[in-house]
Amino acid sequence: MTERAPRTAAPWWRHAAIYQIYVRSFADGNGDGVGDLAGARDRLPYLRELGVDALWFTPWYVSPMADGGYDVADYRDIDPVFGTLAEAEALITEAHAQGLRVIVDLVPNHCSDRHPWFQEALAGSPASPARDRFWFLPGSGERGELPPNDWQSYFGGPAWTRVVEDDGTPGDWYLHMFAPQQPDLNWEHPAVRAEFEDILHFWLRRGVDGFRIDVAHGLAKKPGLPDVGTAPDPADLPYQDVDDVHDVYRSWRKILDGYDGERTFVGEVWLPTAEQFARYLRPDELHSAFNFDILCCPWDAEALRRVVDTTLAAHEPVGAPPTWVLSNHDTIRHVTRYGREDTSFDMSDKRLLDPSDTELGRRRARAAALLTLALPGGVYVYQGDELGLPEVRDLPDELLQDPTFARSGGTDRGRDGCRIPLPWTAGGPALGFSPAGSTGTPWLPQPADWDGLAVASQQTDPDSVLHLYRRALTLRRTRLTHLPETLTWAEEGPGVLSFTRPDGFHCLTNLSPTPHPLPRDTDVTLSSGPLDEDTEGRLTVPGDTCVWWWERGPGA
Ligand code: NOJ
Repeated sequence: MTERAPRTAAPWWRHAAIYQIYVRSFADGNGDGVGDLAGARDRLPYLRELGVDALWFTPWYVSPMADGGYDVADYRDIDPVFGTLAEAEALITEAHAQGLRVIVDLVPNHCSDRHPWFQEALAGSPASPARDRFWFLPGSGERGELPPNDWQSYFGGPAWTRVVEDDGTPGDWYLHMFAPQQPDLNWEHPAVRAEFEDILHFWLRRGVDGFRIDVAHGLAKKPGLPDVGTAPDPADLPYQDVDDVHDVYRSWRKILDGYDGERTFVGEVWLPTAEQFARYLRPDELHSAFNFDILCCPWDAEALRRVVDTTLAAHEPVGAPPTWVLSNHDTIRHVTRYGREDTSFDMSDKRLLDPSDTELGRRRARAAALLTLALPGGVYVYQGDELGLPEVRDLPDELLQDPTFARSGGTDRGRDGCRIPLPWTAGGPALGFSPAGSTGTPWLPQPADWDGLAVASQQTDPDSVLHLYRRALTLRRTRLTHLPETLTWAEEGPGVLSFTRPDGFHCLTNLSPTPHPLPRDTDVTLSSGPLDEDTEGRLTVPGDTCVWWWERGPGA
């Protein structure tokens, strides 16, 4: 693997900038309007130049795509719409040659209803042992006509679907915490554990550097699958954060540690308390987990400072690095969130259509990028963050593909708007998402005015979001990632978030409407937007702007 970063004592995953590739929407290599591995391979030089350290690929496995690939029918092969296993192997090798690590998405909570195990379970009798790898239960009510318990699917509606037995009679119910096409696996079954251990080995042998664990808090269920009840304690639900899940990660950690090269796990852990969250990051479990607190936090100095402090405090006792995430393929893009009156977010956010000032949102998004890239720990960049893409909110109903739209009866418009194919060029098929010569009809339409946001358009504009990310990622790599994982707040007044890190580094973000003066002679290295001067000739930082500078001094 090409070495680009200065060598540090800390393993790479403690301070990596990881770029999330939503394969279907990144780049289309074969011209069918759907992103694929060929497209991703073509764009590796772009990613290298951007300055990230690693790539996280959302599921690329064989899948009927009932939930964008998070319904896996074969964990050891690539879906034909994305390419072949040989292409995935080539991609891993080529990424390594460019100095980029590769993280694949592991989906252990559920599989697809087309997975051979589930097909076997359906084909078997109610007593078939093939059903024990899932959660099949008789219904409640006099004739079993009601679901076995009161659990609701995260996508809306009951978490149970009743099967029809071979003789045409209604039979048992199976559990699916997401769509009915995503049956939950029974992690009490030894075959389930053995299967996933083997899947880990399969991809580790192919050289992947790590795994992102989908719904990492959800695998184990409380014995007896008790009802949630009417006033549940969010920190004590029977389908998440059940203690047995930690055994799974302890056994996986041993497997990973048996391979060379600092392989890593990052967990998708959504839990209400920092204590619960941190337990997944104990030294013999996962290495890191996504920090959704910062993603959900409003654009507000005090709230952000609180999140940074609680994040650092939660990670410190278990010795895990924090991570910083502003957007992903499940959330409203932060350019749009930050342009609303209420800038906070949560997963049940139904405010997709609330008015948003995109220009304001983008100014804040630029500042948020510098703020998060300056913090100790790892950072995630969701494809398109580096272009300042907004959420697309006017997709017609008939084009919406996310199962949440139909499952919620249309009250949740779903996550398609953050999954629009990337614009690469100002013209050409699907703005360069698809190759020359193709018809250029992408799987979701791009807004007509995205030509100005295309990579090629931003490459020639030194003030673009893309240039800001490149400069920040380069500075971070050369001057920040080797520093101790600490920060010290500087008190600069209400609405101003300011901290220093070792080696004289300063990061100041002004979230107030009042311009904030910098100390005289400050030599600003990077700024998310234009600075002004006050009447005394001091540089001032306008609202919604973040600046980085290093104190002059020996070695600076
Ligand atoms: C979390 C993934 O990020 C999301 O896209 C998916 O729908 C659910 N897990 C279910 O796998």
